[in-house]
Amino acid sequence: MTTCITGPLRVLVTGGAGFIGSHTCVELVEAGHEVVVVDDLSNGHAVALDRVGEITGTRPVLEVADVTDATALDSIFRRHTIDAVVHFAARKAVGESTEIPLDYFHTNVGGTATLLASARRAGVRRIVFSSSCSIYGSTGADDLDESAPAAPTNPYAWSKLACEQMIEQACRHHDDLRAVSLRYFNPIGAHPSGLLGEEPHGTPRNIVPYLAQVAVGRRERVQVFGGDYVTPDGSAIRDYVHVVDIARGHVTALDHVDDRAGMQLFNLGTGQGTSVLELRAAFAAAAGREIPYVVTDRRLGDVPRLVANIDAVSHAWGWAPKYDVATMCCDSWRFQELNPDGYRR
Ligand code: NAD
Ligand code: WQD
Repeated sequence: MTTCITGPLRVLVTGGAGFIGSHTCVELVEAGHEVVVVDDLSNGHAVALDRVGEITGTRPVLEVADVTDATALDSIFRRHTIDAVVHFAARKAVGESTEIPLDYFHTNVGGTATLLASARRAGVRRIVFSSSCSIYGSTGADDLDESAPAAPTNPYAWSKLACEQMIEQACRHHDDLRAVSLRYFNPIGAHPSGLLGEEPHGTPRNIVPYLAQVAVGRRERVQVFGGDYVTPDGSAIRDYVHVVDIARGHVTALDHVDDRAGMQLFNLGTGQGTSVLELRAAFAAAAGREIPYVVTDRRLGDVPRLVANIDAVSHAWGWAPKYDVATMCCDSWRFQELNPDGYRR
């Protein structure tokens, strides 16, 4: 294991006002890096960056811009000297991607192509990319390592695979380009300060923000999608990973982005599976209150089990998750309790 980069970097974080991006800003600033955020605020919150400032003492600069806008990106790269890009900005709702696939291709694939080209014009040669376990689809494997075949089952997952392939090809043909793609499993939790968390616009589609809104009384009950899977309690199993661990993974990725030519590819998860019913119980325990639920039909496109094998990232970089599901639920609940209306003050 080698560490090539030890000094501070000037990092452009696209999507830095969103859930994972804002937590990553905290870890980057705390590691001594300088951060500039590009976000169009379509699903992010400028207040989240104020909170990053409260936690770290340094509020990242926010450039409100769309990553598909080459002129805006070129102007940002002219005004800020940047050493590396961490690219989170994307649309991420699987269900919505089946309704408006072309919008997903435009933002996720088009945005990544536009960003790569603009970064190249500015002489930036390091990129860390947000990828997703959804690329694996339903392979039926007990745990998934990076060699598992890609089998995206929806336009969102397809867009992430297309971006990975585009970045990999760009690295092949531009010798100086260095990239890391991180395939996150199910990031949940919140910053332990209670200042930063997950605040999706509209009705939550993911399980934890939904559980949190039921626990705080904003919604009546959670639907457990499917009770007839071939799993110990009949509900689906996922690999939930603390967002702070994911954020730390990006700092580690920047330390190692120069280690090898081409694109490095790693899973980020815990290697532990948790069922929906177990998660509901853990969240209820964290919140100290009942979370009513009803078991309904399976959600279209869901798979029974998605759990990471994280041997590769642990051997290459020594990265390992620090937090368990109970801590993830406590931290999510703290954010919800302290911010019952999210980032609206
Ligand atoms: P998020 O929606 O909270 O953050 C995405 C941010 O990007 C938002 O602040 C949004 O305003 C911004 N954005 C969207 N389109 C943009 C555009 N065209 N130009 C500029 N900014 C734009 O989502 P997140 O959960 O923090 O996800 C971050 C990244 O991680 C995404 O690329 C997502 O696909 C990936 N990912 C997320 C998960 C997950 O479960 N949360 C899992 C795997 C991968
Ligand atoms: C988790 C479990 C649901 C809501 C998605 C993307 C994946 C990645 C992570 C971006 C599932 C069940 C959910 C509810 C429920 N994101 N559930 N009731 O679908 O595992 O993964 O986020 O890359 O690509 O697909 O996450 O939080 O939606 O669901 O029972 O109200 O909770 O069926 O088993 P998912 P999720």
